[in-house]
Amino acid sequence: MVKYTMFDPQAYIQDFPILQRKIHGDKRLIYLDNAATSQKPQQVLDTITEYYTQHNANVHRGIHQLGDESTKIFHAARKTIATFFGTDPQEFVVVRNTTEAINQVAYTWGEEYLTAGDVILISEMEHHSNIVPWQELAHRKHAQLAYLDVDQMGRLSLDQLRIQIKTYGNKLKLVALTHVSNAIGTLNPIKEVVEIIHADSPETQVLVDGAQAAPHLAIDFHRLNVDFYVVSAHKMLGPMGMGGLFIRRDLLKKMKPFLFGGGMINEVTKEKTTFAEDLEERFTAGTPDVAGLAGWAAACEYLGKMGMHTLQEYDQTLVEHALRRLREIPQIKIVGPLSATQRVGSVAFLYKGVHAHDVGQILDSEGIAVRSGHHCTMPLHTKFEWQATVRASFQLYNTSEDIDALIEGLKKVQKVFGQ
Ligand code: ALA
Repeated sequence: MVKYTMFDPQAYIQDFPILQRKIHGDKRLIYLDNAATSQKPQQVLDTITEYYTQHNANVHRGIHQLGDESTKIFHAARKTIATFFGTDPQEFVVVRNTTEAINQVAYTWGEEYLTAGDVILISEMEHHSNIVPWQELAHRKHAQLAYLDVDQMGRLSLDQLRIQIKTYGNKLKLVALTHVSNAIGTLNPIKEVVEIIHADSPETQVLVDGAQAAPHLAIDFHRLNVDFYVVSAHKMLGPMGMGGLFIRRDLLKKMKPFLFGGGMINEVTKEKTTFAEDLEERFTAGTPDVAGLAGWAAACEYLGKMGMHTLQEYDQTLVEHALRRLREIPQIKIVGPLSATQRVGSVAFLYKGVHAHDVGQILDSEGIAVRSGHHCTMPLHTKFEWQATVRASFQLYNTSEDIDALIEGLKKVQKVFGQ
């Protein structure tokens, strides 16, 4: 067993009731599908239950005690979440998930600022949610969608980025990149990317998809110096249906709201409406999901107690252990960076001669949950001619024994398929 000096997952496993479940009879659940969604600690579940059992009321609208309590919970949760990401509630638009956040940028900023002939630059490793909204926007606006290549080791080239910036000049309006690849685990050098863009093309906006980074890295929106950073709560121990769109205040001030209706107005007449000056209000139309926000804030507090730097180090030890053990099986080809320091949260691989879905099924029969398929990155899979890959992804409650169990499960694949 690998010894961790910084972090002991055993102290936290009991916080996750679902991890006590047995699978297929009496098998221990070994949950390695955290990049799809993470499990939730009791603290998050309790916070949501407590909201509905003790405080449930609409925010702002009722002059009564429960309405007051709900409003306080709503604002406190927004502050906790924004602070966790190094910003404040005036730069935080609540959305349902990362996909909705990116669509919202496309429909607000994109509709307003993009014109025919402009360029949006993304990479070949993007999740469909950071491809399709831009394809659609480019169609609507007669703009161009361009791609940064991914090399054989699953990395982006900063030299190619410099060349693309020169090629597109002032037509380059947006660079939208993932912080960590959901499919191959690559940690992209966002800080360097931003420095290059700011030096060579200061008018270009930068959007970073943080869906896979936020569960593992300390994210400081201001230190990253990006224009938009988007995340989902459910991948970072929070509830499903909650996400964040962090936007630089000066940009948000200029942007039109996406949703119109109650709660975001200043004055409404039959003919026209003026919108709330306060950015928090202006971008919160309709009844918010207060319980979801409170649950997400509880997840941020939970992660914050351990410290994201500690958790990142622990994730590295898991990734390193997984890479080392996977190399023991000759039929396995690891995809993406081979060094643990260049990856975050997951390892993905091909099993020679066996379809990824068959591998996933055999692992499932052993109580091991992984994801098999194209992981919503079809362009990346097509480029490398991978029909489907298997991905094992980690959270703080995973241990080196979980990875060892994965390796034993893969040995069963050998037996079943005689490969
Ligand atoms: N985007 C999630 C994943 O990579 C669903 O599995």
